[in-house]
Amino acid sequence: MKNPNRQAAIRRSEAHGGNDTDTIVVYNSSNGSSMQYAELIAKALDADIIPYSKKTLGYVTLYRNIVFGGWIRAREITRLNMLKQNAGQFGLAGKNIFIFGVGLGPDTEEYKRLICKRNGIERDTFYYLEGRYNPDKIKRVDAASLAAMKNTIYGEMSEEDAQVLRERIENGYDGVDPLKIIPLVEAVMKAKEIR
Ligand SMILES: Cc1cc2nc3c(=O)[nH]c(=O)nc-3n(C[C@H](O)[C@H](O)[C@H](O)COP(=O)(O)O)c2cc1C
Repeated sequence: MKNPNRQAAIRRSEAHGGNDTDTIVVYNSSNGSSMQYAELIAKALDADIIPYSKKTLGYVTLYRNIVFGGWIRAREITRLNMLKQNAGQFGLAGKNIFIFGVGLGPDTEEYKRLICKRNGIERDTFYYLEGRYNPDKIKRVDAASLAAMKNTIYGEMSEEDAQVLRERIENGYDGVDPLKIIPLVEAVMKAKEIR
């Protein structure tokens, strides 16, 4: 099946003399909040958007600006490792990379630094977005993982940050806020202007 995003990217690329041109948003979401943010970001930037899959991740090769977002699981930005592992093949060194992670931890500088450290990324490429957790609606597999991780998930976090995460997991939480995408969108726009 033809992927319309890819066709559009190829057309644009050809129109610009075969150079990779614009922006793609790739996201990995389990229960929808990371997808919601990705859609808002793609809309704001008029960018192409695809859900993460092993088969299609290589499309990033065709773009100059890559926004990659994943939900956070045990402090890991899910699937980011796949992008990093293929950095050479995808030619990432010559591109602008923006990463967002969606989690339930608090939006504190300390927590953001911890996520960067755990995922081996630079602080200035990372944007943290608070997500959603509804204990009654979450996929069974995620609920099971969460139950299994309940003693390890808070490791390395400060006591204050861990307390916030604990409460949000116990009671459910909806931190999705469309306005929170603004810093990321502005950073991508700035990169587009510089080209
Ligand atoms: C198994 C599991 C582990 C999680 N671990 C973390 C975590 O370490 N840090 C965090 O901030 N949020 C954590 N969360 C919360 C999710 O990242 C949050 O609910 C997010 O919004 C889910 O994104 P999604 O709706 O796109 O799937 C965890 C959730 C689950 C189910």
